[in-house]
Amino acid sequence: MAIEDQAVLEAARAVDEAKKVVILTGAGMSTEAGVPDFRSQNGWWKQIDPRTVATTEALEGQYGLFHDFYSFRIRSLGDVRPHSGHAVIAKWEKQGKAGAVATQNVDGLHQAAGSRQVYELHGSILSCRCHACGRPAAQGTFLDKEACPCGGKLRPNVVLFGESLPSGAWDMALNRIERADLVIVIGTSLTVYPVNQLPYLTKGKRILINMETTGEENRFDLVLLGKAGEILEAVDRSRGQ
Ligand code: OAD
Repeated sequence: MAIEDQAVLEAARAVDEAKKVVILTGAGMSTEAGVPDFRSQNGWWKQIDPRTVATTEALEGQYGLFHDFYSFRIRSLGDVRPHSGHAVIAKWEKQGKAGAVATQNVDGLHQAAGSRQVYELHGSILSCRCHACGRPAAQGTFLDKEACPCGGKLRPNVVLFGESLPSGAWDMALNRIERADLVIVIGTSLTVYPVNQLPYLTKGKRILINMETTGEENRFDLVLLGKAGEILEAVDRSRGQ
């Protein structure tokens, strides 16, 4: 039996034995659906400096560039659909196995696959508001580069560098992770604070599924290197049910 198969079997056994699984995902969860991540070879931050597009300074001082970046990302999500790995996670929730998904992703793919308990730690790119007065705005109004009736600049409801995380989502994710007996971390470089601390706040087991090593491997009970969708499907197939 290959080592990879052994790891898949071990992960399946851990899922079977756990009562409260929490899933924590990053951009690598979405790449198989066609959404680029940030720090891989084809990632956004290899092509563009995040300070020029993903900060409050960029929004306030370079709105043209900020707007181009986010409208491109919103438009490219048009025909993106969740993949089989999202479906496995949603299925585990329906079975009462997975209690929550905490995600750094803003693309709504977990919800599109049917997951209901999703905590969006970096917000959502699918809805918009005025940066000045906070009033909700239609996505089309943002894409048309219109201003808010108050004159303020419109923006998607994502967390920009320099902003705090939505406290409701953070508190719920933290609470679920603290009480989980298994946390499965998927597709994240674990570089962005404070979400990168969440895996270590559980008393439960920790499994990491990622395409490449992150340097955090020794802090996990089990590591599976490869594509999230393929690995989740294999783990699900290997479960005893
Ligand atoms: P990163 O791009 O930093 O890391 C994605 C990780 O997923 C990398 O380690 C890849 O190797 C891995 N990966 C890629 N495709 C994969 C696949 N098919 N299966 C498994 N793993 C795969 O993305 P995040 O860690 O999510 O924040 O980045 C965290 C935050 O940094 C983002 O939410 C965003 C960014 O700046 C903000 O914009 C505030």
